[in-house]
Amino acid sequence: MRSVGKNVSRREGPEKLTGRAVYLDDLDIPGCWHGVTVRSSVPHGRIKAVTFDPAFPWNEYVVVTAADIPGRNVVTLIEPDQPLLADGLVRHREEPIALIAHADRAKAYEALKHVTVEIETLPSALTIADSLAVKEKIYQNDNVFKSFLIRKGDVDAALASADVVVESEYRVPHQEQAYIENNAVAAWEEDGVLVVRGSLQCPYYVVKALKVLLGRDESKVRVIQTVTGGGFGGKEEYPSMIAGHAALLALKAKRPVKIVYDRHEDMAATTKRHPAIVRHRTGLTRDGRLVAQDVDVVMDGGAYATLSAVVLSRGTLHAAGAYECPNVRVRSRVVATHTPPNGAFRGFGAPQTLFAVELHWEKIADVLGIDSLALKRKNLFKLGSITATGQVLRESVGAEDCLDIVVRRSKYAQRRKEYDRWNADAKKPSWKGIGVSVCHHGAGFTGSGEVYLASRAGIALTRAGALVVLAASTEIGQGTNTMFAQVASDTLGVPFDWLQVETPDTHKVPDSGPTVASRTCMVVGGLVRRAALDLKAAFEREYGRVPRTPAELKKAAVALCGAKPARRFEVQYEKPAEVTWDDATYQGDAYGVYSYAAFAVELEIDRATAETKVLRVTTAQDIGKALHPLFAEGQIIGGCLQGLGWALLEEPVYNDGVMVNSQLTNYVIPTSLDAPPFDVTVVEKPYSRGPFGAKGVGELPMDVPAPAVAAAVKHATGRLIATIPLTPERILAALGAPAETPLA
Ligand code: MOS
Repeated sequence: MRSVGKNVSRREGPEKLTGRAVYLDDLDIPGCWHGVTVRSSVPHGRIKAVTFDPAFPWNEYVVVTAADIPGRNVVTLIEPDQPLLADGLVRHREEPIALIAHADRAKAYEALKHVTVEIETLPSALTIADSLAVKEKIYQNDNVFKSFLIRKGDVDAALASADVVVESEYRVPHQEQAYIENNAVAAWEEDGVLVVRGSLQCPYYVVKALKVLLGRDESKVRVIQTVTGGGFGGKEEYPSMIAGHAALLALKAKRPVKIVYDRHEDMAATTKRHPAIVRHRTGLTRDGRLVAQDVDVVMDGGAYATLSAVVLSRGTLHAAGAYECPNVRVRSRVVATHTPPNGAFRGFGAPQTLFAVELHWEKIADVLGIDSLALKRKNLFKLGSITATGQVLRESVGAEDCLDIVVRRSKYAQRRKEYDRWNADAKKPSWKGIGVSVCHHGAGFTGSGEVYLASRAGIALTRAGALVVLAASTEIGQGTNTMFAQVASDTLGVPFDWLQVETPDTHKVPDSGPTVASRTCMVVGGLVRRAALDLKAAFEREYGRVPRTPAELKKAAVALCGAKPARRFEVQYEKPAEVTWDDATYQGDAYGVYSYAAFAVELEIDRATAETKVLRVTTAQDIGKALHPLFAEGQIIGGCLQGLGWALLEEPVYNDGVMVNSQLTNYVIPTSLDAPPFDVTVVEKPYSRGPFGAKGVGELPMDVPAPAVAAAVKHATGRLIATIPLTPERILAALGAPAETPLA
């Protein structure tokens, strides 16, 4: 192997480092105008009138409303419930109502001040509690977008006969993806084809949305990804909305139109992580063996269905944690509120439910008088374990290995004692604590998802001798381009530098599915490997061998292409025969395989201010073969830091259905100064179906920090705080309240 497992240089690294990379806002498009959005000012209401100030020079502008939509007024995704532009009703505070474009960006913004939207305010349901009480009907009769039920064994009987039953409730908030580059697209028409360029994760999602919206054939829509400054799930669905807006303006203005959100608009209007309330009722034997897990999950979906059903699915499937239990019931719902729709964010529902199940061990530990780590060890997934959906874990189960490594490298037992002594000394200015978590994360789409996607990817060999990977999977900072070139070159047995990777352009690349769900490496990388094997076989068959020099490659290319300019080797996803899943009963192999992570965090809390400083992180993550160890470590550190932010700092404040701290000055995310030293171990339990044994790494790191932080705060202060973020205010409030366990 020449490049897999090595830290080859990042394909687009030099351009990003030197500032030569062209992001959407940098794109110089001749004659391009700038679009802005008129939004609702109330969470729920009936639009009475949209008035344009008669003294304003509207003749310089192009204005678009719902009446200008040539096809259906809907943002196509899972359910056709979200309009592209409000038509009559508004269901959240940031709902788009009209669009304005001007040649000058400042003048476009200026125009927003000269539009008056008169809305008759209707009563709103802004919280999960309001929604469940059906104070207002937002979605069908019960406000439930989707519900799931997983059943294994007989939970009620097992709870009735358990030695102890431990019950608790956990709450997690919204979270902002906070990519460096805000949402941004440009659109124009060219020879009857609507062209969209944009900062996005899923080019074909945008094609499918525009097709319905514009009522035109897919071949008349072309979506091209521009260099993208981060996604984290936040550019999975929203680009379809903003691309629709830019397309309407461009068609009406008959010229290119760019829409580039500023930070405030991006944070207030686009999707967030779903807040969740999770209740656990857990039956155990006296010595800490699980006998029953009864879990209830409610998530806040916001005003429209968007991706909530699949976010809930993943949350549901991870809700019992990485533990084997003979009797499990998970009931889950995602409900509608009059708030901007929530959506994909790294982890996609799993961090929400994993926080609850992991932190619940701290409560169980108190009840049983057994250390939480010992309890986790006793019940943890191992080879042959059977999950809540009846999936037998046949291979690549690294949970125990990860936990062992983290416990050893963090000196968990020693630190625990050391910090107990520190905390007992009233003269010390701080409390210190250590907490450990261990989680699993399914790679790829859930259940039959990959079968429905039927993703395609390939490699093209041009007659001139270029080797080009063809996939719609986007580089969003995680290393897609480099990884594809590694997989293809090593499979072919040719130098890494011989491989190019085509820009995701829907007129050039097949639909390899969305860039989400930790699937790009394991699933799409697997397709690239199969395509490379086909090409390799063709080289051997038609040229005699795989070319060894550039000169040979040119000859081989002519031999394989004949008179054609290029030859494509494309393959489609095929489900591994051993994977079975039943969507109706939610039984079977929820994911082909899981990645695993353990995480120890040590922190120090100021006794006067309750400010928390993270001292050290030790983590081990089983991601199968690390195709690029440095990128894998980068994913782990980045994802864990994002998780630490969710646990400690990031508090979206909602007032009247809108995020009011929608700026990076008052929505605090971790910076490099907040990053603790990280001790990272990559554990490589190979997966037989992944390319070179790879599993997923994108989302897993997001799962582990929050429960470990809350456990460490518990160790430090004696308070089990079941709601994040653990801000100084929340810790101080908990210290003032009666303790469940006395402070040391
Ligand atoms: Mo992702 S959170 O599956 O874009």
